[in-house]
Amino acid sequence: MTDSPYKEVTDVAAKSTDVMWHKADVSSTDRQALNQHKPVVLWYTGLSGSGKSTVANAVDRKLFELKCHTYVLDGDNVRHGLNGDLGFSDIDRVENIRRIGEVAKLFVDAGLIVSTAFISPFIADRQMVKELMAAGQFVEVFIDTPIEVCERRDPKGLYKKARAGEIKHFTGIDSAYEAPINADVHVETADRTIEQCAQQVVDYLVEHQFVSK
Ligand code: ADX
Repeated sequence: MTDSPYKEVTDVAAKSTDVMWHKADVSSTDRQALNQHKPVVLWYTGLSGSGKSTVANAVDRKLFELKCHTYVLDGDNVRHGLNGDLGFSDIDRVENIRRIGEVAKLFVDAGLIVSTAFISPFIADRQMVKELMAAGQFVEVFIDTPIEVCERRDPKGLYKKARAGEIKHFTGIDSAYEAPINADVHVETADRTIEQCAQQVVDYLVEHQFVSK
């Protein structure tokens, strides 16, 4: 990660003995009591075109209707701004996930249910984010759609371009995707509606008492 200037900046800050953590007056527990639900990151992972953003947004709508405080961080959108300097090499993907993990942690600290929809192809990076969070504040949601189905859907025409060699390092084609071994929620989308997939995630949150109906 030596080629990222941002990494150098964050390393300097992390190493400086003059940077202190400022303790907030309003605690996480205060926010939880106000919000009436637990804060958590719903970490969606899956291939491009698997339906991460679609399911995450459908879940977000349902949670909003249950009066939860929520936000969705989406790969394509975040790559336009915060991570606009990053590409798709392994090193850049690691840095992409590291930054999103830190942002998600702030959202959780703010008391929200934050959904992140990034391919996040590497097990080690997802584990790194899980370890950033307090116990019970990271829920891994595997949007499991076979690559044949993603490629048939090809909503952005990217598989076609990748097969033609116009895009390099495309996940599932010439860049690896490491599927979760034991995801908290395993959503198989191929033969199910968006509504059914979204409901499965909400049911998990209710069952594990993050939210109440
Ligand atoms: S991640 O691997 O670093 O987690 P992220 O979710 O942020 O990826 O971005 C993936 C999105 O970027 C895809 O849905 C697709 O629209 C677009 N994209 C462009 N180039 C690539 C590529 N080489 N591999 C995967 N996705 C790509």
